[in-house]
Amino acid sequence: MTESHAVRYEVAIQGDFDAVKQTAQNLLKTHEGYEWLEYQDKTSGVFRGAWLYRGQLKYVVMLAKTRTFLPSSEYIANLFASALQEPSQLHEPFERIAILAGKSAGPVVDKGKIICTCMNVGLNQILEAISVGGACRVEELGACLKAGTQCGSCIPELKNILKTALAETSEISG
Ligand code: FES
Repeated sequence: MTESHAVRYEVAIQGDFDAVKQTAQNLLKTHEGYEWLEYQDKTSGVFRGAWLYRGQLKYVVMLAKTRTFLPSSEYIANLFASALQEPSQLHEPFERIAILAGKSAGPVVDKGKIICTCMNVGLNQILEAISVGGACRVEELGACLKAGTQCGSCIPELKNILKTALAETSEISG
């Protein structure tokens, strides 16, 4: 009897992002019978790929030009721990999208460190609103997450997060 286990590699590579992405695809995508899922955001420098075999998760590749846009290592570990403990077929679109979104499809969401205590909004949600939702002002974070819409004491921190994330994005695209 063969024991199943997951192996995780974290690699930092300096070089052409598209070449690294292509190498990862070439290494894993060629297996016959595998389904290939892909998400890419060139503005943020994010590429995510997943390979399913008979509806079950087999490989995940998460690439980002900056650490800010990588899912937490705990998320990846939990993804495979669940897949090994309870092998189930991922047929629902929301289950497949959740793999590439780098967050749980269930009610438990990894919000990250809570930044806005009034509205219970975490750092991961804010970064996602910036990278995926395109928010670039505090008012837009308020509109989509309600962050900063009560006492306002978190607004300076929201501004700092926006400034850092947007600076990283402009470095990537510039
Ligand atoms: S802490 Fe964010 S509005 Fe109060």
